[in-house]
Amino acid sequence: MTATTLDWAFRADEVTKVYKGGVRANDGLTFRIEPGEVYGLLGPNGAGKSTLVKQVIGLLAPTSGTLAIGPHDLVAHPEIARQLCSYLPQAQMPIDAFRAAEAIEITGRIRGGDTATVRARTGELIDALGIEEWRSAMGLKLSGGVRRLVGFAMAVVVPGRLVILDEPTNDVDPLRRRLLWRQVRALSEQGCAVMLVTHNVLEAEKAVDRLAVMMDGRVVAEGTPSSLKAEDRGRLRLQVMLVPGTDTPESPPWLHPTVRVGNSLVTALDEADAGQGIAWAQGLIDDGAAEEYALGASTLEDAYIRLTGHVSDDNEA
Ligand SMILES: Nc1ncnc2c1ncn2[C@@H]1O[C@H](COP(=O)(O)OP(=O)(O)OP(=O)(O)O)[C@@H](O)[C@H]1O
Ligand SMILES: [Mg+2]
Repeated sequence: MTATTLDWAFRADEVTKVYKGGVRANDGLTFRIEPGEVYGLLGPNGAGKSTLVKQVIGLLAPTSGTLAIGPHDLVAHPEIARQLCSYLPQAQMPIDAFRAAEAIEITGRIRGGDTATVRARTGELIDALGIEEWRSAMGLKLSGGVRRLVGFAMAVVVPGRLVILDEPTNDVDPLRRRLLWRQVRALSEQGCAVMLVTHNVLEAEKAVDRLAVMMDGRVVAEGTPSSLKAEDRGRLRLQVMLVPGTDTPESPPWLHPTVRVGNSLVTALDEADAGQGIAWAQGLIDDGAAEEYALGASTLEDAYIRLTGHVSDDNEA
């Protein structure tokens, strides 16, 4: 083979991880993320997302299967994996004793950036994420959301070929979430592959080019957001807010599976059944069982519910 264009995609091939004690947390995972692509890894608690990430960055060894970026085998060379990947963990970064800008700069230097470039990039990220007023604040004094944004800046100040972001927008306000997503897109435009691990399907729908839905260690669906929504065409989503403490009402047969999280009931129905859907929801309000309802276009979340039986974060409040 001539070495004209090297394939720098991230590849997971038949990755299986069985923990001691027998939990099969990853079961034959195969997918790739192209340079310049934002790829979502979605799935409910325990689906196996973090297990996969830990193997990518060399914290765990797969039971079988391969993980690679370009010509590099990440399992055989965890030290190369750490160079090629930048990682924002789900847990907050331990930056109590550092000033925000300092934490970002130090990380950039550790990742091999030169002083001037790292300083300039740190300044750009602080501005771009809207956290200028905390530039010199100690980590200990930062709010959860600002701390998260500093963690994000640390992860991307000198980005690897693969940038792994585990729930990057946790605790971040809506305005700054938008700023963060803009930076994620900028990373992909620079040619980074981005792996976005999240429960938040509605956010993922806007941010990713493609995604995989994971369940019990396997990929149960993969594609673009619109291809995954294709099966839900012709359907509407009905969300009913129940009065706290009421039992889940019995679903009429023309409703697709209903999921209840807290007091929120989410279901889908065919467009042709919209009239009966409204009458049913209005009846629940009249009976004192529900407070309000909303009927709208189906979203990626409806596909997610169909595939996993779970609701994503946005409805869990
Ligand atoms: N160190 C471990 N030893 C044994 N089992 C584990 C270990 N870590 C995770 N598991 C199990 O492996 C499965 C997958 O866990 P994992 O943490 O990868 O899920 P996840 O998709 O990241 O979930 P979450 O969304 O809650 O972060 C779960 O059943 C979990 O209990
Ligand atoms: Mg996890």
